[in-house]
Amino acid sequence: MLDWSGLETACRSCRKCALAETRHNVVFGEGARDAEVMFIGEGPGEQEDLTGRPFVGRAGQFLDEMLSIIDLDRSQYFIGNMVKCRPPKNRDPLNVEMDACIGYLRNQVALIRPKIIVCLGRIAAMRLIREDFKITKEHGLWSEKAGTWMMAMYHPSALLRDPRKRPEAFEDLKKLQAKIREVCTHTYPGQS
Ligand code: URA
Repeated sequence: MLDWSGLETACRSCRKCALAETRHNVVFGEGARDAEVMFIGEGPGEQEDLTGRPFVGRAGQFLDEMLSIIDLDRSQYFIGNMVKCRPPKNRDPLNVEMDACIGYLRNQVALIRPKIIVCLGRIAAMRLIREDFKITKEHGLWSEKAGTWMMAMYHPSALLRDPRKRPEAFEDLKKLQAKIREVCTHTYPGQS
């Protein structure tokens, strides 16, 4: 296991898969390094590739708005992706790409030791929770893996595309807030 600076250096110089050929920036992930909550998306989009920061495009702004409903901001959680480099034309990351990258994510999880991991969308859920995970049926359901609470929510891009899913996402946010109150020890705004 690498420490933060070794890990960041390894990621920034990584050429383990073909995404290295087309990326502008490695999107390492950002947020609190002692976060109790981690959010994991699929992979960087165009804005993320250009800026080197996760979830800064339209979907990211929408996610920020959603999380602000439960008083969460980026100083309180860590956010990253299954792959750290942009898949061309925003296609889903391939299994070989996720295989190449997952060691970096596992290293991040080992350093952070979050109490809660929220998968954003089916790609992360199928890789981190269960291979046959069905996001339409299983979003908002908790499971525990090696002492970490896991849950998946709809990806914010899916919520932008299909606003009819938003009430369900709101319920999932409330479930996340309840779980934070149950298992987290840091102080969160809006929590007494
Ligand atoms: N979508 C993702 O899954 N991750 C990002 O960082 C941005 C958009």
